[in-house]
Amino acid sequence: MLISRIHMPYTVLFVGVATIAAIPFVGGVRDTGDTRVRRSAMPTLTVDLTSPGPKINSDMWGIFFEDINFAADGGLHAELIKNRSFEFDNPLMGWTLVQSDPGSDFKTALQIKTDSPLNISNTRYLRASLHHMAGLENEGFRGMGIKKGEAYNFRTFARATTKAHPKALIVELVNESGAVIASASAKGFSKDWSVVSCRLTAKETVSKAKLRVLFDGRGSLDLDMISLYPEKTWKNRPNGLRADLVQKLANLKPGFVRFPGGCIVEGRYLSTRYQWKKTIGPPEERENLINRWNNEFGHKPAPDYFQSFGLGFFEYFQMCEDIGAQPLPVVNCGMACQFNSKQLAPMSEIDTYVQDALDLIEFANGSAESEWGAKRAAMGHPAPFSMKYIGVGNEQWGMDYFPRYEAFAKAIKAKYPQVTIVTSAGPSPDNPDFTLAWKMLKGMPKKLVDIVDEHCYALPDWFFDNTHRYDKYDRSGPKVFMGEYAAQSVGIAKPENQNTWLCAISEAAFLTGLERNSDVVRMASYAPLYAHVDAWQWSPNMIWFDNLHSYATPNYYVQQLFMRNRGDRLVHSVLSELPVSDKPNRLYASTVLDEKNHELIVKVVNGTEQLTTMSLRGVNTFLSDKDSVSVTVLQSGNNSAVNSLADPTHISPTNTSETLNGSDPILTVTSSSVTVFRIRLRQ
Ligand code: AHR
Repeated sequence: MLISRIHMPYTVLFVGVATIAAIPFVGGVRDTGDTRVRRSAMPTLTVDLTSPGPKINSDMWGIFFEDINFAADGGLHAELIKNRSFEFDNPLMGWTLVQSDPGSDFKTALQIKTDSPLNISNTRYLRASLHHMAGLENEGFRGMGIKKGEAYNFRTFARATTKAHPKALIVELVNESGAVIASASAKGFSKDWSVVSCRLTAKETVSKAKLRVLFDGRGSLDLDMISLYPEKTWKNRPNGLRADLVQKLANLKPGFVRFPGGCIVEGRYLSTRYQWKKTIGPPEERENLINRWNNEFGHKPAPDYFQSFGLGFFEYFQMCEDIGAQPLPVVNCGMACQFNSKQLAPMSEIDTYVQDALDLIEFANGSAESEWGAKRAAMGHPAPFSMKYIGVGNEQWGMDYFPRYEAFAKAIKAKYPQVTIVTSAGPSPDNPDFTLAWKMLKGMPKKLVDIVDEHCYALPDWFFDNTHRYDKYDRSGPKVFMGEYAAQSVGIAKPENQNTWLCAISEAAFLTGLERNSDVVRMASYAPLYAHVDAWQWSPNMIWFDNLHSYATPNYYVQQLFMRNRGDRLVHSVLSELPVSDKPNRLYASTVLDEKNHELIVKVVNGTEQLTTMSLRGVNTFLSDKDSVSVTVLQSGNNSAVNSLADPTHISPTNTSETLNGSDPILTVTSSSVTVFRIRLRQ
C-alpha cells in the first residue's frame, strides 16, 4: 500500500531533529519567531527511497477543454466576428445596419438568402442592396479586443451577381465612441463566390471595438464568412488561436487535453450532439451549430452562443501537439445529455456512432493514404498525431450506457487494441449511479475497460475530506481518471462561485491523495478551463479572460505546481500522526521521484493557519553533496482571496533556493500554503 495518511497539522522534518532551536530555513517562509509555530510535536514524514514505487503516468495531470463560457468562439478561437456566416437562429444576430439612407429599412437593405449558397454546409448568405456608403457593423463577442500597432486580417467571400455593385468594401475598426481606429479597402469582386481581403493596422488599443464594412458605391453584393483575425495568433497561423490563452496552457505543461467536452459532446438533443467530422476541412464548410450552453441556465442566458467550429478537431490535435500534451477526444456514445432530453440512439443504429469513433482514430493516427488520414494530411499534417486515448461518452449514467459503451469498446479494441478507452462513471463521485457504473464496468471483460472517468464538483470540505478516497481502491480493477473536478465556493454551478484560495488549497490537498495513489489514479483534470468575464455561464473556472487580457486563478497555479513537479515514480512515505488539538486537522503531503534530475519532490499542503515545520526521515544517506533544495510556495492569508484582471498574480507561486544544513534538515511550511520542495539526491 501507499503512503498512509498525514493528518497532523504543523510540521514535517527530516530525520533526527537535533535541536528545534536550530531550525534552518528551508521552506517558503522564514521562521521569524511566529508564536503560532508548533515546536513541541513536530510531525515526521518518513520517506522510503530504498525501493522504487510505481511509475507515474507521464500524462497524469492534464486539461479539460469544453466550449462553455465562450471558451471557443469569443475565446481560444481568435476570430473576432460573431455570426460570420449568418447561420445563427437569428441570421442577423450580431450585425447592424449603419449609415442607412433615411427611409431604407433594414430588411430591404440586408437580406438573408439561401439560393446558390457558398456550399451545402453554409446555406445562408447576406445580400446587401445598398446605397452609397451604407454598410453593416459587427459587434464581436461582447466587443472585439484590438491592440494598437497590431495587424488584423479581414477576409470575406463575395459575389457580384448584378452589374451594379459597389466597387469596394471599406473596412474599418471603430472604438467604443465610434471613432475609426483602422481602415483599409477590399475589392476585386467577380460573379462567382471568391475571397476578397485586406489588412488593417490599429491606431489604438480598444477592448470593445466593432468592425464596420461600408459599401463604396451603389448596387448589390453577396457576402458570406465575413472574418477578421489578429495577425498575431498562436504560432501566427491564419484562422488561428488566441496566443495569450494558448500560452497559459503551454505554461502549465499539461500531460493531456480532454476535449471538446463535457455536455457539449452529448448535445441537448442527439441532433445537436458534437460531430467531429463536421468540424474539419475548410472553415467555410464547417456546419454551424447551436451551443448547448446557449440556453442551459435561465440565470445566464446566452442567446448568441453558437459554434462556428473554427476551432475544430484538427485545431485541437494541432494545439495538443504544440503544447506537448496527449489528445483525449471524447465522442458521443449515442446518448444526448441526460440532464436535458436524455435521447437515445437505438442499439440498432449504434454502429454509425461507433464508426465515427473508429474514423476519428484513423483521422488522428492513420497514414496519409488512409481515407481519414488523407483528410488530416490535406489540412497540412501528413504525420499522424499518435493519439493514445479516446473517451466514449461524457458524463453518462444508468443502464442505457453500458451496452452502448460495450459496443464501442469491442469495436475499438478489435481494431486499435493499443488505444486506451475512457469510460464514464456519471456526474457524481458517490451516488447509486456511480456505484452501479463501477459494478457494471468491473463486470465487463477486463480488456474492454481501461480507465473510468469520475467527476466531482463539491464544496472545499469534500476535497479536504477525500484525500484518502483512493487508498482503498481495488488495485486489480480498472484505473481511474478524475476527469472533471473543482471545489465550489458556494455550491455546484452556482453563479456566485468564485475561484477562492480556499477552493484552490482544498483541491491541492485532494491532489496529494491522487498523487499518492497514482498507481490507480492515472489521470486528472480540473473543470472547466476558460471563461469570458462578460459571457460566462458557469463558475468557477481555471482561466478567466476579457477581449484583451487573461488571468490565471489560484486553482490554475495549484495545477501548475502538480504538472511541473509530476515526477516519474511514486515514493512511499508516511507522515506521522500527532495528537491533534486544533481542528480542522489539515496537513497533507505526497512524495515522488524525478529520475532524470535525481530529485525527491515533496509536496506539502498546509491547510491550517499555523506555520509548520516537518522532519523528513529516510533521506539523509541519499542526499547529494550539494544539498540543494528549490522551494516553490503558493500561499494566501485569506481564504476568500481571488485573482482578477486587475490583480492577476495576487496569489501566485514564489520560488527560492535553499541549502539543507546537515543530514537532518527541517522543512518549514508556511500557514495556508502549497509548498513544493525539490531535493537533490546522490546519483
Ligand atoms: O464542466 C461543466 C460541466 O459539468 C460539463 O460539461 C459536464 O461534464 C459536467 O456536468
